[in-house]
Amino acid sequence: MLKRTNSCGELRLSDAGKRVVIAGWVKSYRDHGGLVFFDVRDREGLTQLVFNPEKQPEVHKPAKTVRSEWVVAAEGVVQPRGEGLENPKLATGQIEVAVEKFEILNTAKTPPFEIELAEKTNEEIRLTNRYIDLRRPAMQEKLHVRHRVTKITRDYFDEKGFWEIETPMLAKSTPEGARDFLVPSRLYPGCFYALPQSPQLFKQILMVSGVDKYFQIVRCFRDEDPRADRQAEFTQIDVEMSFVDIDDVIDIHSELVAKTWREILGVEVSLPIRRMSYKEAMDGYGVDRPDLRFDMKLKDISDIAGQSSFKVFTGTVEKGGVVKGLCAPGGGKYSRSDIEKGFTDFVADYGAKGLAWFKVKEEGGKVTLASSIAKFFSAEQLERIVKRFGAKDGDLVLLVADSESAANKALAPLRCRLGRELGLYDKDRFEFVWIVDFPLFEWNEDEKRYDSLHHPFTSPVEGDIEKLDSDPAGITSQAYDIVVNGSEIGGGSIRIHRPEIQAKVFDLLNISKAQAQERFGFFLKALEYGAPPHGGIAFGLDRVIMLLTGTENIRDVIAFPKTQRGQCLLTDAPSEADQKQLDELNLRTQRHSHAVEENLDKQ
Ligand code: AMO
Ligand code: AMP
Repeated sequence: MLKRTNSCGELRLSDAGKRVVIAGWVKSYRDHGGLVFFDVRDREGLTQLVFNPEKQPEVHKPAKTVRSEWVVAAEGVVQPRGEGLENPKLATGQIEVAVEKFEILNTAKTPPFEIELAEKTNEEIRLTNRYIDLRRPAMQEKLHVRHRVTKITRDYFDEKGFWEIETPMLAKSTPEGARDFLVPSRLYPGCFYALPQSPQLFKQILMVSGVDKYFQIVRCFRDEDPRADRQAEFTQIDVEMSFVDIDDVIDIHSELVAKTWREILGVEVSLPIRRMSYKEAMDGYGVDRPDLRFDMKLKDISDIAGQSSFKVFTGTVEKGGVVKGLCAPGGGKYSRSDIEKGFTDFVADYGAKGLAWFKVKEEGGKVTLASSIAKFFSAEQLERIVKRFGAKDGDLVLLVADSESAANKALAPLRCRLGRELGLYDKDRFEFVWIVDFPLFEWNEDEKRYDSLHHPFTSPVEGDIEKLDSDPAGITSQAYDIVVNGSEIGGGSIRIHRPEIQAKVFDLLNISKAQAQERFGFFLKALEYGAPPHGGIAFGLDRVIMLLTGTENIRDVIAFPKTQRGQCLLTDAPSEADQKQLDELNLRTQRHSHAVEENLDKQ
């Protein structure tokens, strides 16, 4: 085999005259009645090969037989391309290699889709033939960025004195709030390991063990339905530190983020990254992961709407709900049916019962609101609404009346949609924010108990500890999330390190002493043996790579991802197990494949 000397992406005009050997896959074969040309592609790029029938008849002949995606190696001399034949779009576009020795290393079947047309190819076909899809330069670039980010991360933490320590994959259930993947135990019939939803408890125990600074790039498993930014199997950059407060954790991770953005994109993240309270985020954006690339804040107009004569509004406000909305700059261009069909149906998908609207018009130097419901408002009330939103001629005010949480649930995605549609932001910008001052608990009305907003190991702020007995809902936690352009890329907290406080929190979560002992006994016991104050964070690596590579599809940044229905189309997992394996595991299953399918259809 010819021994490769160069990659296909690196040859330039300054290499002219050099003898090289390159190898790769055949792309775009062209026969110019005599001269044969094609490109060879490897992960670094493309180089054009030229075969001359007069000068090198012995290589010209086999060159005429090649097809797309065959694997070849070629030796030859780098030469400038002929006049007018340069390709300015290609890094190697000024040269070609005049081939003198040529080897066909392998043939290939015709690919199931054309690599150049992959963007337009059905994703299932691409996932089934992932090796072809991953050959695309755009996909190779994503794999490369992912590699570089993990390298930056490891170097960064190493320099700061963190140790990378592996924690078990076969473990006991960890409470991140999703469903577990279970692994049956052969040696203990009827018993199961759970795949970790995160290394949360192990990393805290490492702090009790005196490790001081831990990190791990680690796979986590959560049996939830995959979404555009969510996979059942995903990767965290997981960190824990001892003797730290919120500022320590935020600073060290802000610096990591800034370093990553600088090295991968050349983008300067200005430090310190701003902080916003959970309340400010919910009030102004309706979510705890606000997209701050554009303004268009939500405003509560319950005080004005509650005094109108519009029954939907007054009724909602009387029941303790809110009338809340936004003013879309330039939204006046939307037609009535855009609003009453498009936007109303959109918010209905998020549970809103309706969407009221006003078009903002300037008449005779005065800004007014036009709508079928304007008649229910006095001139003074309309004026106050205009003022509240800072509304201008040509804008559109959209309002939802509901409980505060329901209104937020509908308005937050509406805000993002309008921001995108109205071009309110520059897509290449990044807006980072730390969300802080989360409540420790939220009340779960269905189950009549508190839920942890973060997870049960998060510490209250020092001053709120006595509220565990008197006012749990009023407790602020020491949790923090980092959000970029509306995507939550990481979250963590300062932890509870005193066992009696941990026990109290379990109690409020309605986890009985016996249950707590059964599920987390090992952990509560560890806390009793000198747990240092500690805290940490986990970044969602996949989401970080999505932002850095500009994709909205999490599957693009994972080499071998699962579909929305949790399947690996390449290997056809999950699949049925042999009876022998099942017997060894003491498992009995419903093996009828149609039973399985029926089940899937029901979901
Ligand atoms: P949390 O559950 O917030 O915290 O997860 C941390 C980050 O992981 C990412 N993430 C996901 N990414 C892709 N697919 C998923 N299904 C998925 N779920 C979460 C998000 C999220 O911000 N143990 C705690 C961290 C800690 O307290 O230190 C934890 O796992 O970007
Ligand atoms: P209706 O009285 O149902 O005909 O509604 C009159 C207008 O109020 C329509 O534009 C509805 O979309 C709107 N509307 C109804 N319910 C709500 C609500 N909960 N929030 C905001 N607007 C609403």
